[in-house]
Amino acid sequence: MKKVITYGTFDLFHYGHRRLLERAKALGDHLIVGVTSEDFDKARGKINVQQSLMERIEVLKATGLADEIIVEEYEGQKIDDILRYNVDIFAIGSDWVGKFDYLKQYCEVVYLERTEGVSSSELRAEKRELRLGIVGDELPFLSKFERESHYVNGLSISGLCHLRRHESIPDNLLQLPLLTSNFEEIVDASDAIFLNSTPQQHYNQIKYALMHGRHVLCEPPVSMRRDEWDELMRLAEEKKCLLMDALRTAYAMAYRRLLLLVKSGVIGKVCSVDSSITVQRDTELKGDELINVRNSISTWGANALLPVFQLLGTDYQSKRIITHIENESLKYDTFSKIDFVYPEAVASIKVGKGVKTEGSLVVSGTTGYIYVPAPWWKTEYFEVRREDPSFNKRYFYQLDGEGIRYELVSFIRAVQTGRSYPYISGQVSKAMVAILEDFYNEKDLIRI
Ligand code: CTP
Repeated sequence: MKKVITYGTFDLFHYGHRRLLERAKALGDHLIVGVTSEDFDKARGKINVQQSLMERIEVLKATGLADEIIVEEYEGQKIDDILRYNVDIFAIGSDWVGKFDYLKQYCEVVYLERTEGVSSSELRAEKRELRLGIVGDELPFLSKFERESHYVNGLSISGLCHLRRHESIPDNLLQLPLLTSNFEEIVDASDAIFLNSTPQQHYNQIKYALMHGRHVLCEPPVSMRRDEWDELMRLAEEKKCLLMDALRTAYAMAYRRLLLLVKSGVIGKVCSVDSSITVQRDTELKGDELINVRNSISTWGANALLPVFQLLGTDYQSKRIITHIENESLKYDTFSKIDFVYPEAVASIKVGKGVKTEGSLVVSGTTGYIYVPAPWWKTEYFEVRREDPSFNKRYFYQLDGEGIRYELVSFIRAVQTGRSYPYISGQVSKAMVAILEDFYNEKDLIRI
């Protein structure tokens, strides 16, 4: 019996896929189809495959063309499969000519002419593009954000709304269709808005965007007060719009795997979570910076709180905010530390723009701890450590584009399907707002 094997993502199964499988099957008596897993696709840069692995397998099964379906999960697996299944022919589309010649030492390699005029990427892009307007003043970051958006099918950046005057706007932002300082104008030109503005501006901006039927992706905290958060979420529901927290860390593979590992009990019961995010501010606040300046807690608070709330929940018994306020009228804190007491655990975060410390994350449990080195919020690496170091384990996950592209893919998918998979739950989102509200009202707060 002659065995043939082929591989692909087979997203949004189309005529080109069918023709390829028919010809591959005709080369022998038994066709094995390797379908790429989500993680493997991500690792090789295909990030917005629309259908899940199971959906793609189901569609393939229904064609009746595959005698056997396997999942491709890692680099180099093809050699393993060819040997394991005793494969005679490896067949693949002509877009890969030459790329798989290294398999010739294991079996025959056949490149089949690719069908012209159809591809999954085109089908994905055919769905109407979502025009996303970006709003904010951290231009180096927004420039990166714009560049990252090119990796995401079905999305285009409609323009930039920035409120501060800038000496130099990065080239890629200058080339956007719209540059304005008028928020209403960017809303008009967009289907959705990304907010990188200050939390003080969020409430009015989100309300305006939602009232006009625009989806919102907002850097947390979503608002300055709990009641505002409730109101905005109600409004989003009423207008059938999405209001989603944008926190890159939450979408990063290493961080998500860490959460799952902890939840599966790898370090026993969690007793303590410690996270720090600090940056050294190199200049004094001056001029334009004094308008809408972001203090430490509103810049980094939500990010530092993320693992605390996601691992221990939001029902803490008590908290204490210890802060050093440098500028009273701006409530500019150069350093803030927040301690939480839970029924059976504690947590502590440190954020600062005028203090430098190790930006690590440590999650301590009854049978070990997880250490994520600085900068933990954009890490690709962490360690599970135990009393006996021979049981330590290291984990690596590549983080492309600091997680921005994954965040955008989740957002656009949620908009398209009307279903959002909560990487950051409503409870966590609101708990972040509550901390900011208490900071400004000086509730549970000690000044140093
Ligand atoms: N294929 C083909 N003709 C097409 C599209 C794909 O012969 N018009 C072949 C590919 O060469 C490959 C297999 O079908 O051998 C699976 O391809 P896959 O990458 O899943 O499909 P594409 O449509 O090329 O997807 P994308 O646009 O995401 O690259």
